[in-house]
Amino acid sequence: AAPSTRPSPLAGQSVLITAGPTHEPIDPVRFIGNRSSGRMGFAIAAAAANVGARVCLISGPSRLPTPAGVERVDVETAEQMYQAVLDRAPQAAVFIAAAAVADYRVEARAMHKIKRDNQPDQLSLVPNPDILKAVAGLTDGPLTVGFAAETDDVLDNAHDKLTAKGIDMIAANAVGEGKGFEVADNALTVLWPGGHRELGHKAKTQLAAELIDLVGERFHAAD
Ligand code: CTP
Ligand code: CA
Repeated sequence: AAPSTRPSPLAGQSVLITAGPTHEPIDPVRFIGNRSSGRMGFAIAAAAANVGARVCLISGPSRLPTPAGVERVDVETAEQMYQAVLDRAPQAAVFIAAAAVADYRVEARAMHKIKRDNQPDQLSLVPNPDILKAVAGLTDGPLTVGFAAETDDVLDNAHDKLTAKGIDMIAANAVGEGKGFEVADNALTVLWPGGHRELGHKAKTQLAAELIDLVGERFHAAD
């Protein structure tokens, strides 16, 4: 697409973004994690800053550099991400949840390294808070945008998440072998109540710019 000449509806607006994985500690040296690199969320943060938004990026553990003009807050666990997001969400105009948040954490993390001779026979897990759903439930909260990373029935599952979480938009994302995680490109279809747009398969940086254009359009429409 040609670069737009008009100012973005997001110019000057506060945009809050989550990115990366979370790490859920087992003991001081071990954690449960996932394959998210943070690339998609960092690219969205850069794209939002490019259109003049005031961007705060809440990032799980990621080695990526902070995009220019973006305020970054580093967290490790889903609970820390929840706290960092809920502290800021009431003041945000838009919330984009690109993080791959662990659905569960270890119920009682060991405070000392678990030794080979003390093999635990099981790890008890408890559910983490759903950050996106919590933000969608705020009165006068921001426009909410989620991601649905799915290996199967991508569009159906994404549509179910849009409804179940009560969010404004969702980007459906096929993941699996060589797709979605740990790669530089991606394919997204964005759904909202009453519409959808296929953004196709391209570099995450390009997808991020197109997603930010679309979020700007929906933000303007809801205004
Ligand atoms: N999400 C979140 N907090 C969580 C889990 C997920 O904010 N504890 C957000 C993700 O950032 C994403 C959206 O919710 O934007 C959907 O995440 P996903 O893992 O696909 O959905 P879940 O509701 O966790 O369902 P499932 O893992 O069973 O597919
Ligand atoms: Ca999940």
